[in-house]
Order: sequence, then structure tokens, then C-alpha cells
Amino acid sequence: MAIIISIANQKGGVGKTTIALNLGHALARIGKKVLLVDIDPQFNLTFALIGMDVLKYEENNVGTLMTRESDVRETIVEVNENLHLLPSHLNLSAKEIEIINAYNRERRLERALRPVLPDYDYVIIDNPPSMGIFLVNSLTASDYVLIPLELSYFGVIGMQLMFNLMKMIREETNESLTLLGIVPNKFTRQTKVPQMRLRELRETYPDAPLLTTIPKAISLEKAQAEGLSIFDYEPDGRAARAFEKLAKEVVEIVEEG
Ligand SMILES: Nc1ncnc2c1ncn2[C@@H]1O[C@H](COP(=O)(O)OP(=O)(O)OP(=O)(O)O)[C@@H](O)[C@H]1O
Ligand SMILES: [Mg+2]
Repeated sequence: MAIIISIANQKGGVGKTTIALNLGHALARIGKKVLLVDIDPQFNLTFALIGMDVLKYEENNVGTLMTRESDVRETIVEVNENLHLLPSHLNLSAKEIEIINAYNRERRLERALRPVLPDYDYVIIDNPPSMGIFLVNSLTASDYVLIPLELSYFGVIGMQLMFNLMKMIREETNESLTLLGIVPNKFTRQTKVPQMRLRELRETYPDAPLLTTIPKAISLEKAQAEGLSIFDYEPDGRAARAFEKLAKEVVEIVEEG
């Protein structure tokens, strides 16, 4: 039965898509069956994985799934044997109003995913940088939340918004939602600021687990732009090693307690 992990932060550009993509590949490479779900109307993850093919899925995407116009099995795209995708589409933002006004609106994704959960070890959901109905659906469906964080002043302050939302979700729709951890992203030793912010983070949220740090690496940006995982683009680099480590850490926490 799949473990469902939401990659979430209401702040934009912190690395949600980068982490969903490369953590997904890293887990698939160690033999896990992975379903990546792109619930962001910007469809960055879908584009990184299938490029212009995104246009083909007008009638079979995460939006049509949530409005029950398509079935989950016909909506999944096979990227490779171990890595599958539930794509987003240009038309997803237009579905938002429809979903907001629909019956059981917070559980649309949870319900839609249920039939395929036995087919996967991990479902990883890439979320939009906003606190709307899509993020609420993701968190309602998820076992865990992984929060990518850029170590800036507003990045650390903004964590409180995610914690507040998680508290609300636990009270209203999903009492077992658990914080998997925070992943400091775009880390650099070129200035002292990230170290300082990391210390502040530990002091402000002593109970929040800090997971593997991902270094700032141009290769991650270039790989994504070329539609490649970091393992295909620069397999021996620091970034690839960091994602291997993160995948192992995730497996340890969720499978071995
Ligand atoms: N560790 C890193 N090193 C260098 N560049 C990175 C790193 N992580 C992410 N980036 C780059 O930063 C930009 C934003 O990353 P990404 O798209 O993953 O963020 P996001 O949180 O998904 O954004 P959004 O909120 O818009 O969905 C991208 O150009 C990405 O390639
Ligand atoms: Mg994104």
C-alpha cells in the first residue's frame, strides 16, 4: 500500500517541484514503485517529465480526475517502469471553481487515488504555492508532509503558515497527517546567512525534523530545464548524492519508523 507524501510550502520557488522530481527518481532507482502527482496548475513537474506531451492530456489529468470526468487508471502516464505520473494540465486552474462548489470537495483527490494505492510504494504530490483547494486535497489525502525551505528570513518566518494549515487539516479532515520533515534547499556556504537561518529554524521549531540538506547547484536547474533527473544529468555530482541520501532517509523514516 502506497505511502502518500505531499511536498508543500505556500511560498513560491523554494524547490517543491525540484524535490518531487528528483526524490521521485531517487526512490524509483532503488526499486520503489512511485506515482508522482502534479496538482499545480503551473504544471512544472508534468512539463519536466513529459514536455509538450502535456497538451495530450486535456481530458485525462489531475483536474478531470477530481471532477470525476476521468478514471484514475486511464489518467496515469508511465514515465518509466518504476515511475508514473498523474499529470497536471493548462486547464487545471479552470477546474478550481468547479471543485470548490462540488460535494466532498476536500476529498476529491483522496478518493480518486484510492483504487491505485496498492500498485505503488510511494505517491509523491507536487503542490502549488498557494493555500487553496488543491493543497487542502493533497494534505487530506497524505500520510506525510515534506516541506522544502529556502533559508531566508521570510522563508523561516513563513513556516508558521504551513504549520497552521497542517493543524487545521488534522482537526478537520486528516488527523494522522504527520510532518516528515523540513528539507533545507539551495544551501550554500558562500555566505553565513543560511547557517544562521538554520540555527533560527532549530530554535523556533525544535520538534520539526530536519532532513538532508540539498545544495545550491546550477545542475539541478539545468537538468529540470532539459527534462532530465539529476541522475541522468550529473550522476556523480553533489546534488545527485544529496537526493540519494534524502531518499534513503525518507525510506528509513516511513518504512522502518
Ligand atoms: N538546490 C537548487 N539549486 C539550484 N537551483 C535550484 C535548486 N532547487 C531549485 N532550484 C531552481 O529554483 C527554481 C524554483 O524551483 P522549483 O520550481 O522547484 O520551486 P517550486 O517551489 O516548485 O516553485 P513554485 O512555487 O512556483 O511551484 C527553479 O528554477 C529550480 O530549477
Ligand atoms: Mg513547483
